[in-house]
Amino acid sequence: MTDVGRIGRPRALTSGIGRIGRPRALTSGIGRIGRPRAVVGYMTVERVRGDMIDLRSDTVTTPDEAMREAAAEAPVGDDVYGEDPTVNELEKRAAERVGMEAALYVPTGTMGNQIAAQVHTEPGEEVLADVESHVVKWELGGFAVHSGLQLRTVDADRGIPTPGEVADAHVEADLHRPGTGLCCLENTHNARGGLANGPDRIAAAAEVAHDRDVPVHLDGARLFNAAVALNRSAAELVAPVDSVMFCLSKGLGAPVGSMLAGSEEFIERARRSRKLFGGGMRQAGVIAGPGLRALENVAELSADHENAAALAEGLEGIEGVAVRPPETNIVLVDVEGTGSSAEDAVGALREAGVLASRFGETTIRLCTHRDVDRTDVETAVDRAVGALA
Ligand SMILES: Cc1ncc(COP(=O)(O)O)c(C=O)c1O
Repeated sequence: MTDVGRIGRPRALTSGIGRIGRPRALTSGIGRIGRPRAVVGYMTVERVRGDMIDLRSDTVTTPDEAMREAAAEAPVGDDVYGEDPTVNELEKRAAERVGMEAALYVPTGTMGNQIAAQVHTEPGEEVLADVESHVVKWELGGFAVHSGLQLRTVDADRGIPTPGEVADAHVEADLHRPGTGLCCLENTHNARGGLANGPDRIAAAAEVAHDRDVPVHLDGARLFNAAVALNRSAAELVAPVDSVMFCLSKGLGAPVGSMLAGSEEFIERARRSRKLFGGGMRQAGVIAGPGLRALENVAELSADHENAAALAEGLEGIEGVAVRPPETNIVLVDVEGTGSSAEDAVGALREAGVLASRFGETTIRLCTHRDVDRTDVETAVDRAVGALA
């Protein structure tokens, strides 16, 4: 029933599942039944071997003892009624950390970004974003699906459009044109190799958007990595924007959850939107407790950055391998010079006991995180030398 569009115009489900009777592969890259392993976007679903060093992403971190205790001991209530004391505490502390009036606990970073876009805009409007940003590449076209938005992308140096690029890409609403409804930035910038952009660059883009009455949202999935790398507070980095999403579940190590922050009015509307998305949770204190604990892990991100630098240095020694010097915990490696494709390189690394992500035809991504230490990184380099040479 849901795949029937307007009267007389049957169409496929926007989720990518074909019409009834017309099975086809999901656009996300998950193969047809019978293909040996599923590829989910740029990630490969692995059966992780015991001695594997998993550098696919910082999302693979598992909750430590302190987090498990925090989950067990969290006082809870019904959060949709606003009665979960642990969630309320997390929302208060998160807002303080980014210097915003209020915050909302959301299950995922993707949902946080999607809610932000929905609250800031009207259907039909354009969202201005870097072409390599997560909201453009890896959120399944959610802006269009959930909120009737279209994208206007720019290929921005370091992932943050310059003032000139924002001005050029801005569309004034008129009888024919929808108008720009939102400018969406990302920091650190995942696909561009975990780049940490300082507040000046963000403020310059935001100023041009604001001059044109366009709000600015920051996808700060790894905001604290940027803050630690630049030795600035998270609040300084987000001061120029109207809303920010940051993840507790990546380098900070929480098992689940992200925060969306902004003005009180924005968060009130976001709370309604979260319900619409199906993200109103009940006794969520059991996951918010580890989230509170994760906020205490910020300073430890510097160890991940040091490990990424050591990893990059080690990999650079391999002939034919070009490593982009990391600014945070993400290392992008171009294997073109070895004569291998990214897929073959990821396969060879897996055989050798290192998990990496395919990030392009010849580019792979390796991420350091709190579940790998310097010894693991050194072992990974040793294994990579054998696998990629
Ligand atoms: C930059 C960026 N934004 C948003 C997300 C989405 O977060 P989640 O996986 O919690 O939906 C990610 C996830 O990797 C990300 O890297």
